[in-house]
Amino acid sequence: MQQEENQWGSRLGFILATIGSAVGLGNIWRFSYVAYDNGGGAFLIPYFFALLTTGIPLLILEFSFGQKMRGSATLSFAKIHKKWEWIGWWSTLVTFVLITYYSVIISWSFKYIYYAFTQAWGSNPEAFLYGTHLNLSSGIDSLGGINISILATVALVWLINLVIVYNGIEAGVEKASKIFMPILAVLMLIITVRGVTLPGAIDGINQFLEPDFSALLNPKVWLAAYGQIFFTLSVCFGVMITYGSYLPKKSDIVNNAFITSLANCGFSFIVGIGVFGIVGYMSAQTGQPINDVVAQSIGLAFIVFPKAINMLPTFQTFLGFIFFLALGIAGISSSISMVEAVVAPLMDKFGFSRKKAATIVCGAGFLGSTLFTTGAGLYFLDVIDHYNMQFGVAIIGILEAAVLGWYYKAEVLRKFFNPISNFQIGTWWDIMIKFITPLLLTIMVVKSLITEIS
Ligand code: PHE
Ligand code: NA
Repeated sequence: MQQEENQWGSRLGFILATIGSAVGLGNIWRFSYVAYDNGGGAFLIPYFFALLTTGIPLLILEFSFGQKMRGSATLSFAKIHKKWEWIGWWSTLVTFVLITYYSVIISWSFKYIYYAFTQAWGSNPEAFLYGTHLNLSSGIDSLGGINISILATVALVWLINLVIVYNGIEAGVEKASKIFMPILAVLMLIITVRGVTLPGAIDGINQFLEPDFSALLNPKVWLAAYGQIFFTLSVCFGVMITYGSYLPKKSDIVNNAFITSLANCGFSFIVGIGVFGIVGYMSAQTGQPINDVVAQSIGLAFIVFPKAINMLPTFQTFLGFIFFLALGIAGISSSISMVEAVVAPLMDKFGFSRKKAATIVCGAGFLGSTLFTTGAGLYFLDVIDHYNMQFGVAIIGILEAAVLGWYYKAEVLRKFFNPISNFQIGTWWDIMIKFITPLLLTIMVVKSLITEIS
């Protein structure tokens, strides 16, 4: 591997790239509906619990593992012992599957940037989505018709993925992140300021934050919180291992992990307040309660939000444009990290050049994405996402914590990252990695397997 050419140019560049990976569709589109669906404000309790006991510890683990082994997930696991290499390939596969549909959701955002100018979704965004324009449905029966205009937009998303990853770490991913992330921060501020200053905003924000404490007793809520933490921090996908492998030898692992997590969760929270402020305004205008649409996967971003935009007193086009542009930028800065995590194993394992590996991954990824541009796209998206997350990612989390904690030994990694970090992590980290994370995840996976079967 040509590690010298493959390094972050600066610490800021690395942090912006990891925040770029972490902040994504998950923060705007997934976080709000998962929180809303799982006890509203009460969801924040298991969310922070999962963040502190598993999310941040795993992020530290992945950064330091990649940096120490100087390889993608597959090479890093192979370097511990050949017999663990498959864990890396499993996460590579899960990540590849994820990008195929993640890219399609980005393409909807792109289309909506354009639609924002005419509010083409009209007065009924729901019908728009399922009707002739996007032609999505939740049934498998409409598999036949591929939607050409979505297909073209998906091709554009893959072209952007390709161009950025093709150019390498410093000239591609890092440079793109340095452009994207400041823009995203500004867009987010505009949305939030507009959101909280609308009449009725406070009711929407209350809906978002109001705790339903009975939800805490529901194991499904806890599993959802863990799933959201993995998804939102991009851990267990090989992404952060790969990004860590491009760190210079002496880099502050612990601080970088905390900065990335805090920036990511802060972003979710602030955008959530802005978006629900706007939704609250809408519900005040119509007198309708904030409906269950929010709790559907595409509901908030592509149905409720367009509806709310239509009702804004001023700047409708502007706000619609800003919102979907933010979604698109957040999405691309995440999808390039996924592509990188699939490209790197091909370079490591088969000695492919970056250009060759990137072309193969993006070509195959585009083909995979076409499945979701059919009329049955939404149906496939929901089903595949469910299994990919539940049994792909959660199981990688268990294996990664167990193998690195017990076989490679958490103590060994901690002795590696503490001396190069600004502040020191205590033995609590070993306990999280060796006991808490694998144990809790195993309980949750077994529990949901049981519900799945019965
Ligand atoms: N963290 C991203 C988001 O919240 C998604 C992502 C998952 C990115 C896995 C990379 C790997 O949208
Ligand atoms: Na995120």
